[in-house]
Amino acid sequence: MKIGIDQIGLFTPGQYVDLVEVAQARGVDPNKFTIGIGQDRQSVPGLTQDAVTMAANAALDFLTAEERDQVELIILGTESGVDNSKAGALYVQHLLGLNQWSRAFEIKEACYGATAGLQMAADFVAAHPDKKALVFGSDIARYGLATGGEVTQGAGAVAMLISANPRILALNNDSVYRSQSIQDFWRPVYSDIAFARGHYSTNQYIDFFQKVWAKYREETGHTLDDFKALCFHLPYTKQGLKALRKILPETNVDHQQSLLHYYDESIQYTRQIGNIYTGSLYLGLLSLLETSTSLAAGDTIGLFSYGSGAEGEFYSAELQPGFEEQLHGETHQQMLANRRQLSVPEYEKVFSEELPTDGSAYKADTSNEKARFYLAGIKNHERQYRDHLRGNEDAGAESAPDEPIA
Ligand code: HMG
Repeated sequence: MKIGIDQIGLFTPGQYVDLVEVAQARGVDPNKFTIGIGQDRQSVPGLTQDAVTMAANAALDFLTAEERDQVELIILGTESGVDNSKAGALYVQHLLGLNQWSRAFEIKEACYGATAGLQMAADFVAAHPDKKALVFGSDIARYGLATGGEVTQGAGAVAMLISANPRILALNNDSVYRSQSIQDFWRPVYSDIAFARGHYSTNQYIDFFQKVWAKYREETGHTLDDFKALCFHLPYTKQGLKALRKILPETNVDHQQSLLHYYDESIQYTRQIGNIYTGSLYLGLLSLLETSTSLAAGDTIGLFSYGSGAEGEFYSAELQPGFEEQLHGETHQQMLANRRQLSVPEYEKVFSEELPTDGSAYKADTSNEKARFYLAGIKNHERQYRDHLRGNEDAGAESAPDEPIA
């Protein structure tokens, strides 16, 4: 039985900043950002979008009424969680009106979370072929203004429906994974910005890739020649290229050129959005599928997932007949084109606005928020989620009795 990605959707907030302008403001040669790092634009989330709303918005691309009932597993991979106890997946379940006879929870291991969710979902479907799973990778990448990591920020979410007989990509069940406790990147619970040993993290990413790739070759007998394209976790688009270049000499010059061509197609969305952490590898996959005109059913795609801390996994998947018809390329191109450009001072202002952390109530300015699901504020320590279609009622949870909160 084939199991894999049946549907895939994308959301990114409606504002961006141009990284040439950020480079100029920071006194940096713009080529460092656009060529050295490989980023052009960066999505800038206001306070009306968080890991929950972005995940729910990403599923709108494909979710049908029938699928809402068939989903029995809901996994939110995120490292930008909104609560230390309740899973964001439950808010997502409520926003999207998903089946309540389901398991819903949140998973964390830096950018690896969505891959952990995907593999768990595939195992779930293998055990229950008539059931489906929804896996989300949703994050806001924040390092701070004028920091080394600033150019690698971003925000967005990918939603994936995992099922038997998938219409897009069938997993080949050949994962090779490795985990090891290292301090390359982390975010303490008291901080909303990440800390990174930037160059160390870059080298660890490559080291993990080389190790899992070597073991993958050894265990499966496959070589680079067996792959039409490789997709990478993309903290910034130069990072995947650095990894790819390490193994390119294993194949002939023509195939090297072809792999570089597909790599270029896989980074188009990330160049515009930035790092979306858990969803990043799948943003690359989506970019490849929606940009390329020369992929065909039966092609094998390799996927490398990396989460700092750290965990790496390489696996392969096969494109399914008619996969093109399941994609939403035009919608995604429009979503990117319709974003509002912020000047650098505007971006800095938006970046510096934070939700209160002392328990006080907050009402967000929602006048510019066009996404269907958004955060309207905080009241009684509870996030007030809204659905444009449902007006002013709380869309994130059942209404609760009016009782003093202990
Ligand atoms: P930096 O020190 O600002 O940049 O940090 P640099 O000096 O290393 O330069 C970057 C590249 O630009 C270099 O190319 C330069 O040569 C080039 P490279 O040698 O790397 O090929 N360059 C130029 N090119 C053209 N024209 C110029 C020019 N000047 C320089 N004029 C760094 C860069 C990525 C380290 C920093 O932005 C950072 O710390 N980012 C955050 C951490 C990060 O993204 N790490 C990636 C690996 S870890 C990971 O993927 C996990 C993660 O997603 C988190 C998670 O798992 O949750 C981050």
